[in-house]
Amino acid sequence: MKIAVLYGGISGEREVSLSTGKGVIQALINKGHEVKGIDFDPGKLDEVLNLDVDLVFIGLHGRFGEDGKIQGLLDMLNIPYVGSGVLSSALAMDKAKSKQIFSSQGIQTAFSRTYVVNQFEKLSDIVMDVKANFSIPFVVKPNQEGSTLGLTIVKEEQQIQKALEVASASDSVLLVEEYVGGREVTVPVVGKQGEEEALPVIEIIPKNDYYDFDSKYKPGGSEHIVPAKVSEDLTKQLQTNAVKAHQLLSCDVYSRVDFIINENNIPIILEVNTLPGMTPTSLFPDSAQVIGWSYDDLIERFVTLSVT
Ligand code: DAL
Ligand code: MG
Repeated sequence: MKIAVLYGGISGEREVSLSTGKGVIQALINKGHEVKGIDFDPGKLDEVLNLDVDLVFIGLHGRFGEDGKIQGLLDMLNIPYVGSGVLSSALAMDKAKSKQIFSSQGIQTAFSRTYVVNQFEKLSDIVMDVKANFSIPFVVKPNQEGSTLGLTIVKEEQQIQKALEVASASDSVLLVEEYVGGREVTVPVVGKQGEEEALPVIEIIPKNDYYDFDSKYKPGGSEHIVPAKVSEDLTKQLQTNAVKAHQLLSCDVYSRVDFIINENNIPIILEVNTLPGMTPTSLFPDSAQVIGWSYDDLIERFVTLSVT
């Protein structure tokens, strides 16, 4: 098949995407496809507008890649692509909106409030509202961002203003969330719509305090335990909730669903990643490996699911 791989992009997760793109391109070549890699720049759309391929593999992460925008463009050009469509991509990227959907359907989320930073909204007013509604520790993050970029775990009141400023550098909508302590796990989901299956649950043991950018991408930055050492019941619950969350957003082909297991052994959903990292240190391929799917097989499976 003739396949274009879009990678790189202009989001904060560009470096991650360069690594995802490299891996995906090599896997597709290994599987005998004719591959064209494109370091995607929305300012130079010509290459995408003139694509002559059977399929696009979107190896982008974050803004302009994972948020439905490139999916919309490809829809208009009538070029098939791997993965979720416009609506599900946009919903999954919007943490606040997707949390509303999950909690309305019985999937437990952490208490949160959103704040819009604009010229009418004083940061000091937001600080006051945050103080009134959250007790320390809590989490401040941009509503639409990935890889924990712009995220602060606020442990002292003096940090609030700075945390809001840091998050607002990535997004004018900020999400403040109660801090859920516990075990960090994630569940890959694969399949055509209505036929999804969850892969083995992965537990993440970060070397740093929490699963921050360095723990995610520095070799040895975290340990992945697959399958996670949690009870059969809890594994089932995590996998069921992961597939349910994927389906509630109408995702397609693959996603990875992040949770914290709180101290009462209840899974609290964090988010659905519609274009999860596929780098050599990524979680999804690690889980697939455990059931005997090599990295190349996994990428080929995504392609097959997208064209049949
Ligand atoms: N946002 C990164 C790429 C992930 O979820 O894997
Ligand atoms: Mg993410």
